[in-house]
Amino acid sequence: MPLINGSTELFGIIGSPVRHTLSPAMHNAAFASLGMNRVYVPMPVRDLPQAVSGLRSLGFRGVSVTVPHKEAVIPFLDELDPVAEQIGAINTLLLRQDNARRIIIRGYNTDWIGSNAALTAAGIALQGCRAVVAGAGGAAKAVGFGLMRAGAEVILTNRTEESGRQLAQWLGCEFVALNDLSWLTADVFINTTSAGMEPDVDGIIIPPALLPRFVAVMDIVYAPLETRLLREARAVGCRTIDGLAMLLHQGAEQFRLWTGEAAPEAAMRSALEIALRISGHE
Ligand code: ATR
Repeated sequence: MPLINGSTELFGIIGSPVRHTLSPAMHNAAFASLGMNRVYVPMPVRDLPQAVSGLRSLGFRGVSVTVPHKEAVIPFLDELDPVAEQIGAINTLLLRQDNARRIIIRGYNTDWIGSNAALTAAGIALQGCRAVVAGAGGAAKAVGFGLMRAGAEVILTNRTEESGRQLAQWLGCEFVALNDLSWLTADVFINTTSAGMEPDVDGIIIPPALLPRFVAVMDIVYAPLETRLLREARAVGCRTIDGLAMLLHQGAEQFRLWTGEAAPEAAMRSALEIALRISGHE
């Protein structure tokens, strides 16, 4: 914990709820490991316009945005990163003063960068790789967008066909129903749904018999850290990427935006693991 004083710079996360967020542990560890006089706090927010106006007047420098505000916050910002605008959702705010000392808030999306970085860090070359993405929510959109942008071939699948087809159309990729996956082979399988998340620890989005068809399997669920999907994938020799990887790498990109410096990823990862254990998940 830094010595908080009159020069401490403020960072945090807005969402509802934020009780279980691991981001404060990750970002405070990053600031501490580089000796930065900065602090990152959780802020439960229901009244979004009031909260954004509060960030301006309280002098916050950087803020994470989580559910349910990732899309709703956009009208209250001054600037949008073009890629975040294309995705239609943001997870990061950067606040700065302009020449007239007006506070300018710019929105970014680092989720898709985090997903790509998690895969790349595991040794997967994204250009030309074939990836099956399960899910049709905000996480699937970010993961699918990142893969498409990196030149991967994406196949989307989802429990509900209609929302799956809709997202596939938006991404410009193929949709295959969960029941029709048995003929497919691919480099990567990525679960972006909550299947397998506590308390549904026996849940798994695809039949385990299909797992040998993939070189690598990534799950964005991190409670438990080794989901049934990852356990079964590991047992048949797939490379596995756990749910803390995307969280870490999207946070590392936030850190870079906020500080202009490379993120201390090892310190951030170990803080995430400790926070997860303390929260009773591991
Ligand atoms: P997020 O924005 O965090 O990605 P979301 O918008 O609630 O979350 O999306 C959840 C996704 O997980 C959906 O694709 C959902 O499938 P449906 O479209 O069929 O609802 C999927 N999902 C959630 N729980 C699931 C489960 N137990 N099995 C399969 N899919 C599940």
